[in-house]
Amino acid sequence: MANKTYHIVTFGCQMNERDSETLAGMLEDLGYTYCPEFKAADVCILNTCSVRENADKRFYGVLGQLKNPHEENPGRIVCVCGCMMQQQIHIDTLKAKYPWVDLVFGTHNIAEFPKLYANVAEQHAKIVDVWQDGEAIAEGLPAKREYPFKAYVSIMQGCNNFCTYCIVPYTRGRERSRAPQPILEEIKCLAAGGTKEIMLLGQNVNSYAGGISFAQLLKEIDKIEGIERVRFMTSHPKDISDELIECFGSLKHLCHQIHLPVQAGSDRVLKRMNRHYDSAKYLEIIRKLRKACPDIAISTDIIVGFPGETEEDFMSTLDLVRQAEYDSAFTFIYSVRHGTPAEKYEDQVPEDVKHERFNRLVDVIHEIQEKKAAAYQDAVLPVLIEGPSKTDPSMLTGRTESNKTVDLPGDPSLIGKIVPVKIVKAQTFSLYGKLIEQ
Ligand code: SAH
Ligand code: SF4
Ligand code: F3S
Repeated sequence: MANKTYHIVTFGCQMNERDSETLAGMLEDLGYTYCPEFKAADVCILNTCSVRENADKRFYGVLGQLKNPHEENPGRIVCVCGCMMQQQIHIDTLKAKYPWVDLVFGTHNIAEFPKLYANVAEQHAKIVDVWQDGEAIAEGLPAKREYPFKAYVSIMQGCNNFCTYCIVPYTRGRERSRAPQPILEEIKCLAAGGTKEIMLLGQNVNSYAGGISFAQLLKEIDKIEGIERVRFMTSHPKDISDELIECFGSLKHLCHQIHLPVQAGSDRVLKRMNRHYDSAKYLEIIRKLRKACPDIAISTDIIVGFPGETEEDFMSTLDLVRQAEYDSAFTFIYSVRHGTPAEKYEDQVPEDVKHERFNRLVDVIHEIQEKKAAAYQDAVLPVLIEGPSKTDPSMLTGRTESNKTVDLPGDPSLIGKIVPVKIVKAQTFSLYGKLIEQ
């Protein structure tokens, strides 16, 4: 089995990216090496996302490109996993139309991958093995991390919230939290290996239930030598605690940045979404966050065109966005998800109305971002240098504490270091800086 290669295509959120790191680690333990060209790899894994219809479509497009594997690479093994595979409808589609898929598994049995893969490889069998719900989170699995200097650390999996539009509770199962000890051990081990920044992951970190509160976990992590930046995502506004809000003012390494999805500004829509807060409560949280930490950068997710959303409801969203003054916002057009309660809501918003509202929302967000960007002009900020810039590989790119990217000229030896950078040009979507000599 000399020089066998693998490639993993990851769709969706950070949970999936983290799962792909585990799968990569398992394949490297089996002696496989990474192959940048996915069609040329001996093992190709597609880790799917089902959050919106677009994600589903993109997956089928990529899978279609792997047709006729035997002509290009005889013996290539195609594996599909992730959130889409937790839905029978997609498994049936693969069986009917994509016979070149060899192994299907789900979000709950990633730990089983080496065993499943061995069966497929040795017996040339086709296997579909998807579990309906998860057991306790497996500890001690290998991981090939994408960067040596920053790392994802999963603290919990699943979601109990059942927002009426969302597929995630069905694809990721109920909430399960890791115990604090293995989390802290993992972070200590990362720090010893040179990791400077960690991003704690969970669908709703505020309901972390590993025996201590999420805020207490953050306090323990703050003490770990070598970790200079701590971030987390995602937190649900309904159970953000005052103890957590205070952490932004008191912890040394917690980045002054929070992603706090609001989804909508209309109380009627929020209720129908099953979000368990109203716009007044949400804005109160924002006020408290800014009081505890005046320079905190706040980002959000917003859905437009949820079933039953009227023009008046939409205006409430615009109003909330103006009041919240977000540093950035991810905006989504509502996408019907099979099996969710909102699928059955009768008053679906017509496509053209959804698009028109989407464009108006994006315009308002851009106005705010333009103003926010101007405040960066001439500021001197610590930036973690991540690598060559995607737009101009002769430049470096890095991230501020507020999670904004900055491009700057500099030597690649700076990659992985946190350095002071002066912002020389602040545009709405990009910051340019120059290194301040220390
Ligand atoms: N657990 C996170 C979000 C995970 S999904 C949280 O609760 O904040 C990421 C984002 O996708 C959501 O915040 C929501 O804005 C969006 N989203 C989820 N389902 C969607 C759907 N059916 N249509 C459009 N956007 C959706
Ligand atoms: Fe989906 Fe809501 Fe759970 Fe987030 S909290 S993953 S939006 S059900
Ligand atoms: Fe997508 Fe699953 Fe994440 S549906 S957004 S990959 S939890």
